[in-house]
Amino acid sequence: MSYQLCSTLTPFPSKLITTTRTNQNGFKVSCNAAPQNADNHNENNLVDRRNLLLGLGGICTATSLTSLPSAFADPITTPDISTNCKDAGSGVKNIEEAFRGLKCCPPNIGKTIKPFTFPTEETIRMRWPAHTGSQENIKKYKKAINIMRHELPDEHPHSFNSQARIHCAYCNGGYTQVATHHPEIELSIHNSWLFFPFHRWYLYFYERILGKLINDPTFALPYWNWDDPEGMQIPAIFGTEGIPNPYLRESNGSLLGNNPLYDKYRNPHHQQPPLVDLSYSGKDGDRTIDLQKKCNFFTVYRDLIRNGTDAKSFFGGRYVSGSEPVANGDKSVGSVEAGSHTAVHIWVGDPNQPNGEDMANFYSAGYDPLFYAHHSNVDRMWVLWKELGIRGHKEPKDNDWLNASYVFYDENEELVRVYNKDCVDPAKLKFGYERSKSEMPWRKSRPNIRIENNPKPAKVSSRDVKTVDRIKFPAKLEMEVPILSVKVKRPAVNRTPADKEKSNEILFINGIRFNSNKFVKFDVFVNDNLKDDKLSTPCDVEFAGTFAQVPHGDKRRMFMYSGARFGLDELLEDTKTEDEEYAIVNLVSRAGCDDLTVSGIEIKLVPIED
Ligand code: C2O
Repeated sequence: MSYQLCSTLTPFPSKLITTTRTNQNGFKVSCNAAPQNADNHNENNLVDRRNLLLGLGGICTATSLTSLPSAFADPITTPDISTNCKDAGSGVKNIEEAFRGLKCCPPNIGKTIKPFTFPTEETIRMRWPAHTGSQENIKKYKKAINIMRHELPDEHPHSFNSQARIHCAYCNGGYTQVATHHPEIELSIHNSWLFFPFHRWYLYFYERILGKLINDPTFALPYWNWDDPEGMQIPAIFGTEGIPNPYLRESNGSLLGNNPLYDKYRNPHHQQPPLVDLSYSGKDGDRTIDLQKKCNFFTVYRDLIRNGTDAKSFFGGRYVSGSEPVANGDKSVGSVEAGSHTAVHIWVGDPNQPNGEDMANFYSAGYDPLFYAHHSNVDRMWVLWKELGIRGHKEPKDNDWLNASYVFYDENEELVRVYNKDCVDPAKLKFGYERSKSEMPWRKSRPNIRIENNPKPAKVSSRDVKTVDRIKFPAKLEMEVPILSVKVKRPAVNRTPADKEKSNEILFINGIRFNSNKFVKFDVFVNDNLKDDKLSTPCDVEFAGTFAQVPHGDKRRMFMYSGARFGLDELLEDTKTEDEEYAIVNLVSRAGCDDLTVSGIEIKLVPIED
């Protein structure tokens, strides 16, 4: 392969990776160890770029300057999807058994890409909680999905299968960065700052297409209100086989087939009545209903408040043209994506299917109508995150985020290019969210107590924990004792409220190398004092959060890199450990971690930006 990255030489790839080009373009880079700084807050890339160009940085040195302009990073740009798409296959472990199919490319109906124009209608489409939908809304929704599913030919860009394949193509290797001269690098929108905006656009068109199918300009999607205590089950409208499809009739008039919202490839044990577990690790626990509700509140609180402290923590790490999905120093997964979002995917998918079809694999997730209701709620989390009005809750300002773009078929079968910058304000896109009865019920659920201990006695005790500098990185989460326990120096102790106004104390787990063909998950605990020799759980105060990935990947390489960030200020207050010089960090493997390694663990103060 004629392709080399800085990152292959260093466990802490520099963000400069984004400015490098391939050998074939006549631009070669050689790399020294990059700074161990996975969260370079120098958003002013000009500095980096100048260093690169002048060779001053001491990091990467250009050996040929023939392609100077190419040394500038470009935003991720989706190519023309109707001509530049290949079969998917990334992250599908049992390719032969991928019964949803890997031919995910959209139909080519001879359209050229047009610029996007904002909708001009007066009405706002108000998305509604799926568990309290009005009869009228439910009827419209079933009718529209029924047409999409049963009346459009498969090759129509609006067909149910075409819509499902969009996710497969964008998430399992259908496209490459050919539009920005990196035809060899796959485009992958998860595990990065494209997660929220890509899915917002995807739902925007999906909703308008459904509305068009029933000629209703007010049509709005339901959202699976899993953050509300009453909405934590799979909403009844997506119900079981028993509910007949009111729109399919035999000639004698009797009803035929299933509820159009039903999908048989779901975990059979998770149809109503169980409540979703937003910290799901692949195994059902025995929590009471009340405890499960409480733990779910804690998860949402962490995803939006404690771990979503700033743009990068919430949206995910920087991802630009030239970034490999497999290695990029700035790559990290956002708090909601890694937390509640992934848990719901895995909880709904059928573990008895070869690839967790449908919801537990990105290639097949779009085949479950529930996927779109789940993602409406994920999108709603972005809206609520802003509404919380907390300082630092702002979208990325970086041009490489604002100008990243995707291509979709719109409701008129036109091919349009859309940009992140145009999806920031839902009102401009004419959609919004109905208030659920108890808006943000989790808001007061700061997880400040220990309510559930893991009954298994801990095999590590705080006494024999090594400091982080004595650990050999990359480090494994040993399977025998499935814990990596380290003592990490804090940048400051006893931070005052004024200090906390200026910066957040954040724990970074860097360079997480994981097998992208598997469901991967580890939990992170801080200052777990192992009371009664018991590990704490995701329902306890010591739980910092989780790193988790729905299977997806890169055909050429099974392994991908990511990172994760966890806000510590409240956790340290609540565990009464603010005066400790070190924090004890436990990484506890939950699934798919036997070949996972991390290349660094650190705690830093990250200034809060206005
Ligand atoms: Cu694109 Cu929930 O996944």
